[in-house]
Amino acid sequence: MSGQTTTPAPDQVSAADDEWLPESDFSAAATDESWRGVATEDEEVSVEVGVKLQSRSRRLLGSLLRPHLRTLLVMVAIAVVEQGSYLAGPLVVAYGINSAIPALVAGNGAPLTWTAIVYLTAGVLNALSRAAFTRVGARVTQAVMVDLRERTFRHSQSLSLEFHEKYTSGKVISRLSSDVETLQELAAEGLEQLASSVLSILVISVTLVVYDVELGLIALAAFLPIFVLTRWYQKRSQAIYRRSRSAIAATIVQFAETMNGIRAVQAFRRESKNKAIFGRVNGDYSKATGDSLVALAIYTPGLRLVGNITLAVVMLVGAGRVIDGSFQIGDLAAFLLYVRRMYDPLEELAYFYNGLQSATAALEKISGLLEERPSVPEPAEPTALADEIDGAVRFSDVTFAYNPRTPVLPRFDLVVPAGQTLAVVGATGAGKSTLAKLLSRFYDPTSGSVTLDGVDLTDLSTADLRRGVVMVTQESFLFAGTVADNIALGRPTATRAEIEAAADAIGAGEFIRLLPDGFDTDVRKRGGRLSAGQRQLVGFARAFLADPAVLILDEATASLDIPSERAVQHALKSILVGRTAVIIAHRLSTVLIADRVLVMEAGRIVEDGSPEELIADDGHFAGLHTAWRDSLV
Ligand SMILES: Nc1ncnc2c1ncn2[C@@H]1O[C@H](COP(=O)(O)OP(=O)(O)OP(=O)(O)O)[C@@H](O)[C@H]1O
Ligand SMILES: [Mg+2]
Repeated sequence: MSGQTTTPAPDQVSAADDEWLPESDFSAAATDESWRGVATEDEEVSVEVGVKLQSRSRRLLGSLLRPHLRTLLVMVAIAVVEQGSYLAGPLVVAYGINSAIPALVAGNGAPLTWTAIVYLTAGVLNALSRAAFTRVGARVTQAVMVDLRERTFRHSQSLSLEFHEKYTSGKVISRLSSDVETLQELAAEGLEQLASSVLSILVISVTLVVYDVELGLIALAAFLPIFVLTRWYQKRSQAIYRRSRSAIAATIVQFAETMNGIRAVQAFRRESKNKAIFGRVNGDYSKATGDSLVALAIYTPGLRLVGNITLAVVMLVGAGRVIDGSFQIGDLAAFLLYVRRMYDPLEELAYFYNGLQSATAALEKISGLLEERPSVPEPAEPTALADEIDGAVRFSDVTFAYNPRTPVLPRFDLVVPAGQTLAVVGATGAGKSTLAKLLSRFYDPTSGSVTLDGVDLTDLSTADLRRGVVMVTQESFLFAGTVADNIALGRPTATRAEIEAAADAIGAGEFIRLLPDGFDTDVRKRGGRLSAGQRQLVGFARAFLADPAVLILDEATASLDIPSERAVQHALKSILVGRTAVIIAHRLSTVLIADRVLVMEAGRIVEDGSPEELIADDGHFAGLHTAWRDSLV
């Protein structure tokens, strides 16, 4: 039979132990395909760049900040105090020059002493309010980040298999790690600066015009060239940012793919080709980074130049006003100080622009993930199953396609009476695993219905569904923890005796007891300490303990050696009593224990009958049987 590969391809071997791509215990497809699912962010590079928030980002930000509304108001109050004390400086200087120093010259030192005291007080107030702002800000930031990380984790975990087969685990991980990190960095380092810069620019602009309309307008006229310069910088830096994101994504993909497939890379001598590709993408990234620094190197000196020209013009015009007596020298000093203080924050904002762009993109991506809805949602009002589920299964008029263009099941009808053991055979890609995924409701049919004891699977609660149907796939996923913990996953309330009994029933007790700590042996990450066959036996024990009405085995014995497979087959006879079973297998020895065999071809049932009937029929199955018998000779 074509698909009878018991030795996995190198790629698949590497998938089993790579860090990035945990596959679900119940997911057959994830095992086969996850190696490709490295952090391929390329399709996301098209994400809108710039700092404008899309509506879903705004919604997310709103829902994250809402619980902290009061603290945020306190922060605004602190920021106002901070700005007030900062902006008081030049006014105090003006008073000092205009009044306090002439008073001192006239022999009265008190005004100048007071001026110094007020100036100092403003300085201290500014320092204190800044410290307070940072502390309160850090508290809010941390609370928001914890909330965001938790939401992302909880939400991704709850999404359906369909989502996870498309949106690779590498991407989910980068949402949880680097994107949250980007936001955190901006919040921790930039937010305070950002808030005070924007506030400074606004307040100073108003102050200048109120202070003196003519000079104020001259100072503000400089905003025109600044606006042009800033638009140029924004456009340029958006384009570079886009390039640098594609380049870094390509670099990560190349790196992750090489490391995930390191066995295939080394087995097929792909190192030098990989090295060349990596060198190219890495070079692209470095070029983009260089260009972004060049743009900054034009922008900030440009800003400074405009600032200095403005300062000179204000000084000239101001000097004329002082001479004709309509402006005092202290006022001019204050004015010049304000103009200076308006340009510094502008420059700071330029430095933040890149961080702000990354943060906006990160927020957009996280909110996109959080707004994904499960494709197989739990019904709002589930139909309850009886305590004793019989396990009668029916597919009526089912059609199914992963994507609309290629139907996998064109039209499928099947009735499996309660308690029947049904074997499903057929060539690779015939749709056997798809059938299993529909029956365990990892997917919903495109049309038609799948029922358990007469109830549509879409009307069942998740608890009833998992009580009713359990699937064991070729790769059993073990979590870090003891063997006993891993078996108990089938039924968390099981006692130790029940766990051991389940292992014994399936024939796994013997090898488990030989492990260093028996049932308490830590299996390490992903069960790395056990062989593939041993992991599989633990998976069987887990499913047996779960005691489902319908048990699906999707090539579940493929990684076992002949004696273990025999043992499992033997055990299956007793395990399957009183339960419905769907056994997908390539080995005929497994199929022969079934009451009924289904042969599938391109999503259709082409033969259906007891093994004896089908062998006698001289059809497809009879051919397989003969080939199998011949191979034994
Ligand atoms: N997640 C998926 N997205 C898109 N197409 C898929 C997906 N999983 C399977 N397919 C396609 O559906 C068809 C049936 O696949 P399925 O996994 O059901 O085959 P199978 O009979 O289990 O094969 P095998 O014996 O190799 O396990 C195949 O053509 C496959 O390419
Ligand atoms: Mg399959």
